[in-house]
Amino acid sequence: MNILGIETSCDDTGVAVVEARADGRCKILANVVVKQNHVATGGVVPETAARHHAVAITPALSAACRQARLTICDIDCVAVTRGPGLIPCLLVGVEAAKTLALTRHLPIIGVNHLAAHIAATYWNHPRLDLPALVLLVSGGHTMLVVMNKRNEQRVIGSTCDDAAGEAFDKVAKMLGLPYPGGPQIARLARRGNPRAIPFPRPMIHSGDFNFSFAGLKTAVLYYIRRREQQQKKLLTATQKTDIAASFQESVIEVLLTKTLAAATQHGARTVILAGGVSANQHLRAQLRKVVTASIPDAIVLTPAPKLFTDNGAMVALAAAPHALKKDFDSWRQIKANPNLSL
Ligand code: KG4
Ligand code: ZN
Repeated sequence: MNILGIETSCDDTGVAVVEARADGRCKILANVVVKQNHVATGGVVPETAARHHAVAITPALSAACRQARLTICDIDCVAVTRGPGLIPCLLVGVEAAKTLALTRHLPIIGVNHLAAHIAATYWNHPRLDLPALVLLVSGGHTMLVVMNKRNEQRVIGSTCDDAAGEAFDKVAKMLGLPYPGGPQIARLARRGNPRAIPFPRPMIHSGDFNFSFAGLKTAVLYYIRRREQQQKKLLTATQKTDIAASFQESVIEVLLTKTLAAATQHGARTVILAGGVSANQHLRAQLRKVVTASIPDAIVLTPAPKLFTDNGAMVALAAAPHALKKDFDSWRQIKANPNLSL
């Protein structure tokens, strides 16, 4: 079964083709992602991003079919992100998918973006050792999720304010770096001293599995202002690398402390990292290190690099088990929902 996956929840236009086999195994035949340029706006403006999706989606669809060496006639099912995300952006993908379903007489599946990020990490592990504990970190979400069954998720903690990725993006902006800020901070952090500045570790001892990153972001802002006032000039390159490294260290320490506590409490046999912030090499390395040290029997799964940030393949992969069971939605009823929860 060839599943077309469409993702337009934020600023990446993703179209992919995944072959789902009867035994449940999947193969990614194509995964086209069109990135947007945010130089003019400094971040994602929903209406502008939606207009870019509208322009990019048809060429991305053609490119995905070409990459898969298939034509649209070989597609058996359309899967599309229906939420959560930015409503004008979600609508472009959902309407494109509904149009394909109607005109090509294809079954359709509406996919939760968060479930798709999680599926993108474990899809090629047919025998997932359960229970699994998921750390889901993206530009819009920071969550700890318990999976007692495959494809079944229970949220045990989330952020009270900013998401981890959002904090990276905002701190990058303070340092004059372009959007998305995560890769930029990670790049600077490699040359900085993570112990140079003792930024706060918000909610690290809160005794629950919730997060908060807004205060940390403000602490970085005040630190930058104070330094520049004291030295009566802008930050030096070394100061910027130290801020990036110290900020990143603080975020990672909080994420990992809570992940480890949750994994231990829920007897996790697998720890899954998912979402765009999984692109952070230091986070992946530290996660492996702390889990191996504290729960040596647990397996740590991280996504393949092409599945770190938003893409269409994760949408098709999340839809695959439903498609194989012919558990379809109706194109008449499928609706974008910006606040869809797990
Ligand atoms: O999952 P994603 O592509 O989109 C959402 O669903 O939000 O995640 C994008 C987020 C952005 O905030 C971006 O800055 C962050 O992931 N990100 C990173 C890295 N690469 C992307 N954060 C930290 N380190 C990175 N290397
Ligand atoms: Zn995402």
